[in-house]
Amino acid sequence: MQQHDVIIACDFKSAEDTFRFLDLFEEEARKPFLKIGMELYYAEGPAIVREIKRRGHRIFLDLKLHDIPNTVRKAMAVLSRFDVDMCNVHAAGTIEMMRAAREGLTRPDGTRPLLIAVTQLTSTSEERMRRELLIDASIGETIVQYARNTREAGLDGVVCSPLEAGMVHEACGREFLTVTPGVRFADGDVADQVRVTTPARAREIGSDFIVVGRPITAAADPVAAYRRCVREFLGE
Ligand code: C5P
Repeated sequence: MQQHDVIIACDFKSAEDTFRFLDLFEEEARKPFLKIGMELYYAEGPAIVREIKRRGHRIFLDLKLHDIPNTVRKAMAVLSRFDVDMCNVHAAGTIEMMRAAREGLTRPDGTRPLLIAVTQLTSTSEERMRRELLIDASIGETIVQYARNTREAGLDGVVCSPLEAGMVHEACGREFLTVTPGVRFADGDVADQVRVTTPARAREIGSDFIVVGRPITAAADPVAAYRRCVREFLGE
């Protein structure tokens, strides 16, 4: 699979809204890679995954599993049958849980989707980590440590801010994937994202996949916005 791409975050509440959006891309030669998150998956279930797959899109199923290793292994075994291209867990679930996730996700023929881990959510501040979670390290230190744990568990990469992609590659190697939300066009609206960068800059810093939601889904012309994103990120 291509290891650099733009992933559109399909943060829609229903199948109807999702397909209205995807119909815009019907004539597009390059089928966008899509992210399906909890809201859409919990609303529509596995059927939405099958239908989007049937339309020829690659899928990142963003369900962020975090439970005891045995439960995660079994849940991942179920997801392995969906034929998605990327799944994820929380690195906070420990190396043992991440190993269990990888085992569960691996199909009988030895193949599996890419498996990545969420490091620290961008909504978690250092102050909250210290006061509520009793974690005394800086955000940067936890991200690098969680990324190292993720690599040790045999996963393929992490979700992080594009601004952190460089230090993750430095700690874990160039082949270790960074999947980064928080991307905005230079002339675009930042909305509620705090630490943002442009598609071109994300690529320079070392992002392998950028996850882009509203700059494409809320654009007046989503297809043009997607093409611009691909052009700026991949230089195509
Ligand atoms: O609309 P926007 O481009 O901000 O969407 C970014 C997507 O990436 C959303 O689906 C959001 O939930 C997800 N995400 C994020 N920050 C994280 C992890 C995931 O924005 N740290």
